[in-house]
Amino acid sequence: MGKSIWAASLIATIIGVTVNVPLPDTVYVSIAFAILASVVTWKTLPRLAMTFVEARVSGVDVLKRDRPLLPEAMGFPTAVIYLIAMFCFIPFPFINWFDGEARLVHEDNPMIGTFPYHKLGQILSAILAIQSMVLLGFADDILDVRWRYKVWFPAVASVPLLIFYYTNFGVTHVVMPLQLRSLLGELVDLGPLYYVYMVMLVIFCTHTINILAGINGIEAGQSLIIALSIIINDLLYMCNNTDRESLEAHLFSLYFMLPFAGVTAALLAHNWFPARLFVGDTFCYFAGITFAVVGILGHFSKTLILFFIPQIFNFIYSCPQLFRLVDCPRHRMPRFDSTKRLLQCSTVIIKPSNSLRAKLGRLILKILYMLGLLKVIKWDDDGRLVECNNLTIINLVLARLGPMSEVNTTRTILGIQVLSSLFAFFIRYKLVQYVY
Ligand code: UD1
Ligand code: MG
Repeated sequence: MGKSIWAASLIATIIGVTVNVPLPDTVYVSIAFAILASVVTWKTLPRLAMTFVEARVSGVDVLKRDRPLLPEAMGFPTAVIYLIAMFCFIPFPFINWFDGEARLVHEDNPMIGTFPYHKLGQILSAILAIQSMVLLGFADDILDVRWRYKVWFPAVASVPLLIFYYTNFGVTHVVMPLQLRSLLGELVDLGPLYYVYMVMLVIFCTHTINILAGINGIEAGQSLIIALSIIINDLLYMCNNTDRESLEAHLFSLYFMLPFAGVTAALLAHNWFPARLFVGDTFCYFAGITFAVVGILGHFSKTLILFFIPQIFNFIYSCPQLFRLVDCPRHRMPRFDSTKRLLQCSTVIIKPSNSLRAKLGRLILKILYMLGLLKVIKWDDDGRLVECNNLTIINLVLARLGPMSEVNTTRTILGIQVLSSLFAFFIRYKLVQYVY
């Protein structure tokens, strides 16, 4: 299954980029790098597995009967291979400047003949942000940093990106939806708040992948689907628009997304059930920041958010536990029933506290229950909730459709991710005329 996903995603990517879109040669170079990086990742990871286990960078696969010890943080070598591919790719968009000519520049462009340093700066700042995030992610995997500290890691890594944005675009206004234009005007300048928005986007993208985790194939699987969605969106945009600035923005996105899809597909093949390795927090952070980078510098952050619908739902659903209104155990992954070899939703015990926090938590749980979004395992004699499922989309799916095998749980969640992407395309290309 893993192999077929790997092959199918690569083929889909290749077919996707070759259909009817007049693409610059650099995209084909990027596809070549994507395939090469994918093959190198596919071959390298199993060779590094033992080294990681011996260095005790490992974790127990808790949802298996024999609980095997697997190498952890394999997103690190994956990201390193990706970064090397990106380093080698850097000269290609600028290849025409190496012989002293400026063939890529349009006649009407005032920068004829001058090297586009801003473009180089854009690529370098993006790589620097991704590299910083990979470094911090690996530190997290090795040191198991507490959530209260690691929640800010992406903000640190986003600094190079924000500095580039400030010095090159500096655009801080947003286009208002049609319905609000009579009140607020067509454009609203958010000023410094726009930078806060960008930092929040980076924090959101990185951590929401990390909290939709815990079963084989889920972290890399969701990332691959989001990456392919972004690639398809880039191609659709390039088909339908001809203005140079947008084309450049979506080309930039393709340069980063194609190799990312390549290495992620190879990682997924090894992480698919039954996993031979874990991707680690390094991969979740690496994926999240790569998406945020292309969304911000490619100027399509709103479309990017549309591809995160399951992650948004999972984050909002998780909030009572993330903000400790309800107890949050260290791990919220499903529970393994070793006799049936099936997964069930894991549960949390609600403490009988009378603090304001606990009361608010119980109120939210009651609302979720009334909405059909909570499985209550136990009530006490006074009708108070005592035990319910952990608040993640994986546990909710298992509460509603389970018990299920681990691989079917992953398939179901990834199926939801695909449907959400289709819905996102529908909003982006069909409903958008009613909003903008
Ligand atoms: C996040 C989640 C946590 C979830 C964990 C699973 C929140 C707030 N935190 O924590 O609830 O349990 O991810 O990754 O939502 N593992 C498996 N099978 C897998 C993947 C992971 O058994 O397919 C286990 C392994 O023991 C592995 C560990 O999860 O070592 C990794 O957990 P870690 O990434 O450190 O957890 P967090 O990201 O902190
Ligand atoms: Mg994790």
